[in-house]
Amino acid sequence: MNIEQSDESQVCNISTERKPVEPCSIVIFGASGDLTARKLIPAFYHLAKDKQLPPTYRIIGFARRDKTDESWRQELRTALDQFSRTKPVDEKVWQEFAANLFYCEGDLTDAAAYEKLEKKLASFSSAPLRKNLLFYLATQPSQFGAVIEQLHNAKLLHKDIGARGWQRLVIEKPFGHDLASARALNAELTRFAQERQVCRIDHYLGKETVQNILMFRFSNSIFERLWNRDSIDHVQITVSEKLGVGERGGYYEEAGALRDMVQNHMLQVLSLVTMEPPVSLESESIHNEKVKLMQSIRHLTPDDVAHQIVRGQYFAGFADGQLRPGYRQELKVKADSNVETYVALKLLIDNWRWAGVPFYLRTGKYLPQSASEVRIQFRPTPRVLFAAECGPKLDANALALRLQPNEGISLHFNGKIPGMSVGVRPVRMHFSYDAEFGAYTPEAYERLLLDAIAGDATLFIRRDEVETAWQIVDSIRAGWDSKPLTNREFYAAGTWGPVAADDLLAQNGHVWHEPQVIK
Ligand code: BG6
Repeated sequence: MNIEQSDESQVCNISTERKPVEPCSIVIFGASGDLTARKLIPAFYHLAKDKQLPPTYRIIGFARRDKTDESWRQELRTALDQFSRTKPVDEKVWQEFAANLFYCEGDLTDAAAYEKLEKKLASFSSAPLRKNLLFYLATQPSQFGAVIEQLHNAKLLHKDIGARGWQRLVIEKPFGHDLASARALNAELTRFAQERQVCRIDHYLGKETVQNILMFRFSNSIFERLWNRDSIDHVQITVSEKLGVGERGGYYEEAGALRDMVQNHMLQVLSLVTMEPPVSLESESIHNEKVKLMQSIRHLTPDDVAHQIVRGQYFAGFADGQLRPGYRQELKVKADSNVETYVALKLLIDNWRWAGVPFYLRTGKYLPQSASEVRIQFRPTPRVLFAAECGPKLDANALALRLQPNEGISLHFNGKIPGMSVGVRPVRMHFSYDAEFGAYTPEAYERLLLDAIAGDATLFIRRDEVETAWQIVDSIRAGWDSKPLTNREFYAAGTWGPVAADDLLAQNGHVWHEPQVIK
């Protein structure tokens, strides 16, 4: 039965209470960058198409390059033709949408540029468009502090929201590069804004399948009662990518897989999978549980890092039938770079629910497929009856939450092979988003931008969350202690990472499960 056939009375729409979106202006700093053309404008366009944006709004691109409103619109239109998730672009919707796009040329460090911005906002001749402001900081992280101070000086950003409308700051990752820099950035932000005015983006939280983790766990009683150390043997979280670092070598040299993927996306997914039920659906309750969970992750000493964390770097190899360069041959990468393009972790959570259950996380570039999956591996049956006959060939039950692509959830169990002989093999029950709900899946940015406009903080990262995640990452980096990579830590592009990652699981008699495509 799909959603069309299901009884309407069974559909429970929780967000009808959602805060209404008020007229506002959105200012994108660093508007000439890739993010604006690839993600932000396509997301705003779809929100406009779905009539989700406020009744009146303006979007202003702020950047240094010399452009007019018209030339910026044209540039964005070309990009939209390429990056829109629905094609072709609807001409009528575009025309209406484009009339709300404006460009403001200026240097981020120049006070006069902010005066110009203020004039532009005032020229809209509407109090809400002048006072309700969403500032999207898509600039270099090192510029965040300066932009915010300038906004404050230009009286565009007020800490005490109220009669002067509301102002919010959207901050892109990376949010610092370690705990100390994240703390410094948080301190800078909260000099001129309250914590509730800051939206720290992790685009994974905008993905439907990631949002569904809490709904799946806490709206179904059958799974939640198995969700603990009594039933679960271990958990695997894989976020694999088929592509290499491409043109982002410069950024990647500073980041590496640990900072780029684990500090944010993977620890967020882990905390949603493992946190305790929040007391309510209020944003603060959810954040409290996520932070509590991250604080329960066992601290890693340098010795633990040597045994529980595997890093890797790709060398030249065949991926997708083509010879790919090694990481050290990529543009803007040092010829002797030790930056990891792969990382696998074994984490332990010291709380009543999870004591003793290993959580294996892995992510890497140039792996054989692009897929994100959480695999809950249940305990095997006792070694009697079928298990006694089949030994390790009898697959343990598993639940796979497929986050992307081919979004879905599948339950793996064993069944009798029909026939006269007695044979058993794994079978599965599968829920596919596509089959159930059709192909409509909004982009993560659509949801996140709308939440930022509405002032809903649930899907953004709270200050203590980002800092706790950095604590975990810093302890791993301290364990690596600028040691060079060893031969065992390299892997050929197009393979599933270094052999050391297999050994990591083998210590506990486990093996990695490759994400399976189920249609
Ligand atoms: C970004 C990382 O945050 O996430 C990229 O900086 C990575 O390196 C990307 O490729 C993956 O996102 P998605 O949505 O494609 O899984």
